[in-house]
Amino acid sequence: MQRISGSRIAPVHDPGREIVQRLAEMGYQLEPGALKIICGYSGSKDELLRRIVDQSDGSVAVIDSSQVSCILSSSAASAIQQDRRALSSISAPDLPSRPSSFASSPIQVESCAELKCDITGRSTCVGDYNDFVHYFRDRYAKIREMLSRRLSSRPIESLGKSTAGRDVSVIGMVMEVRTTAKGNRVIELEDPTGLITAVIQKDAEIYEQSGLVITDEVIGVTGTSDGNGRLFVKSLLWPDMPSQTAPLEKGSGCALLLSDLHVGSRYFMAEAWGSFLSWLNGEDDDPSGLSSQVRYIVIAGDLVDGIGIYPGQEKDLEIKDIYAQYQAAARHLNGIRKDIKVIISPGNHDIVRQAEPQPSLPDEVRGYFREDMLFVGNPAWVTLSGISVLIYHGRSIDDLVLRLPGISYAAPEKAMIEMLRRRHLSPIYGSRVSIAPEHEDHYVISRPPAILHCGHVHTVGIARYKGVLVVNSGTWQSQTDFQKKMNIQPVAGVVPAVDLASMKVRKLIFS
Ligand SMILES: [Fe+2]
Repeated sequence: MQRISGSRIAPVHDPGREIVQRLAEMGYQLEPGALKIICGYSGSKDELLRRIVDQSDGSVAVIDSSQVSCILSSSAASAIQQDRRALSSISAPDLPSRPSSFASSPIQVESCAELKCDITGRSTCVGDYNDFVHYFRDRYAKIREMLSRRLSSRPIESLGKSTAGRDVSVIGMVMEVRTTAKGNRVIELEDPTGLITAVIQKDAEIYEQSGLVITDEVIGVTGTSDGNGRLFVKSLLWPDMPSQTAPLEKGSGCALLLSDLHVGSRYFMAEAWGSFLSWLNGEDDDPSGLSSQVRYIVIAGDLVDGIGIYPGQEKDLEIKDIYAQYQAAARHLNGIRKDIKVIISPGNHDIVRQAEPQPSLPDEVRGYFREDMLFVGNPAWVTLSGISVLIYHGRSIDDLVLRLPGISYAAPEKAMIEMLRRRHLSPIYGSRVSIAPEHEDHYVISRPPAILHCGHVHTVGIARYKGVLVVNSGTWQSQTDFQKKMNIQPVAGVVPAVDLASMKVRKLIFS
């Protein structure tokens, strides 16, 4: 069992002493929040402790409040599935801090076992060999399951001499893609049973399509086996989104999708932000009445410019202290109308670990902000009035722009669609994105979100792909000297506004 590095000893209070003791004997520690929920649980505590231990996957030694809430919520949900009449009998105290699918709160952070996407308080990774094995096996198993619904495959180890000349299908993780001197494309594929070389000849119909294959993604391949470790490919299959045409959820109100404020940079557009706030708070004329419909603001990372993020950054900073940057950011955000729920996820300029997935901003920073603001990790799933939103800062867009033909910073929505096709937010491992090999791959897109919201690249991109609304939300930082040299044209002060009932998007311009 992997222990979380550093000691997090749960306080022992008299009412909970026995609970702490019993879990300690089984090798588990309790976070104070988790202990509080267990102590407040009105049902059988013995039964609850048994469920907590049963449902632990053995990789985490510290039980936190979200795990306990999740167990309580999932038990309640399954009770409802068995008998809808049971809903009325579930008392509110049994569903303490994590909103469940039937909780009355309009905003939910989904961090239960099925959708363990927010790493906050859950990191188990120490970076040893076993972590990498667990990480990649988890990625493979999850995406294999998706592909298996559409492809009847066999293990690679079974492709022996008896399969020579026969058409077979395999599901594998891409180890390497290369083009030979003769111009054929070669994909080295692995599954937990073995390796195979998939060959796409340069005159094959799928040759162009095979140029979209990238390392570390999981794909299905069908072709003719030579019985000697090679497969001549006839078709390629990506996990992709189901082909639904519209999201099933229907929400209400309006959500504004923001990112990359970069407060602290001397390029932060304070004046444009001021215009935005005036409009939002009803101080300006708003004939459309849209501002009064805003219920949520989601910020997908890079709230501040940070310190030491790139060489020579200091000359671009107006505020050179990271905490002062967050204090300034808080002053800008705390002015938002109080009935609007603000959700903040971090990015690579924020004061959290650079390795992804990233936890939410630390307590000492949160303290500067209004108490009702919600801080989540990167990536994170939230549900806004019934509409599921997958928030990811979007650093992997750097990798996809470098690797995939036709993908550029000018149209980030295309890179985001490639994430959806691969059912993975950051498929290429070990390139621009530093990914911590957690025991679980938090980047697998386990189910279709209604909205995929990214930032990072400072350009606005909006698209719809198989029922998913794809939004990259631009920036509040004007063009920097570096961007000028690189001929990068940011789209600043533009806010994508999503009507959660119709899912229509408008671009509001404040620059
Ligand atoms: Fe970024």
